[in-house]
Amino acid sequence: MSKRKAPQETLNEGITDFLIELANYEKNVNRAIHKYNAYRKAASVIAKYPEKIKSGAEAKKLDGVGAKIAEKIDEYLATGKLRKLEKIRSDDTSSSISLLTRVTGIGSPRFLLVPLADLRKVEHKLNHHQKIGLKYFEDFEKRIPRVEMEKMEALIHGELKLLDSEYIGTICGSYRRGAASSGDIDILLTHPSFTSQSEKQPRLLHAVVDHLESVGFITDTLSKGDTKFMGVCQLDRGEEEEEYPHRRIDIRLIPKDQYYCGVLYFTGSDIFNKNMRTHALEKGFTLNEYTIRPLGVTGVAGEPLLVDSEKDIFDYIQWKYREPKDRSE
Ligand code: TTP
Ligand code: MG
Repeated sequence: MSKRKAPQETLNEGITDFLIELANYEKNVNRAIHKYNAYRKAASVIAKYPEKIKSGAEAKKLDGVGAKIAEKIDEYLATGKLRKLEKIRSDDTSSSISLLTRVTGIGSPRFLLVPLADLRKVEHKLNHHQKIGLKYFEDFEKRIPRVEMEKMEALIHGELKLLDSEYIGTICGSYRRGAASSGDIDILLTHPSFTSQSEKQPRLLHAVVDHLESVGFITDTLSKGDTKFMGVCQLDRGEEEEEYPHRRIDIRLIPKDQYYCGVLYFTGSDIFNKNMRTHALEKGFTLNEYTIRPLGVTGVAGEPLLVDSEKDIFDYIQWKYREPKDRSE
């Protein structure tokens, strides 16, 4: 995640956001991989562009931005939105497919028309991600009660401590905000030996994943990269009558100096994040999931500020600290 190093990131964020949303729509709903790639490429060159884009024509000079995307940029700059996206968002089929893809990896419209039982007969045709999504489909639909989240938190903290007492792990998301139930488990992990200046240390993440597998908590892997693990876990039922459902779990390894910006971001809520980012901009700072940086008079972001707690971030932007439970908006 630290690869996305673009000081100008927020300059054209509105444009890159809508391009990525279109890209995902083409991939998940239409299975149009070429269009997906085209939108992604355009978003990527625009994210690196150091100026605030003022017209489609200006964007079109960049390699990867064609006439059609330039037109959309003009529409977006003129009206603040895109008719195409509004339509996609209001269409039930495409939004439910996007949702399904996000949650389970069963994204194809072909599959959506097939009852679950039939889908299970053709399981051999699914990719790994889809197989797992199908295997636990009913479980993933269920919310996780807070008591169960608390048990998982105790287990995870205990095992981290056994592994290396210097690990810092935080379950973020709705759980940290005090929600009575959560949709998934979002863990942010760091270690003092890992900073944005040091080498990558995938071992720090993989050791935790391997260990949680060896104690039987992590049951399946959806994907495992250098800094992000996505998978499935399940609590041991112990003395309980019934088995616990399988749950979706994400673990992200974050450099220590970026940890609290990450914790703040992944604690949410997304509405709160938006409001805080807006306030930061008003005070002359740009805030994202990695860093907070001062904005110069020309709107170019400076070096990341030192952050050693969430409170530091509130202090920089002169905002009264808000406990996670008060961050619904
Ligand atoms: P989620 O797990 O999607 O949200 P949640 O934990 O608040 O809710 P749930 O109980 O259903 O799991 O994402 C975790 C946090 O990441 C979210 O609270 C805020 C941040 N986030 C955003 O700010 N924008 C986004 O688009 C997403 C997906 C997440
Ligand atoms: Mg969550």
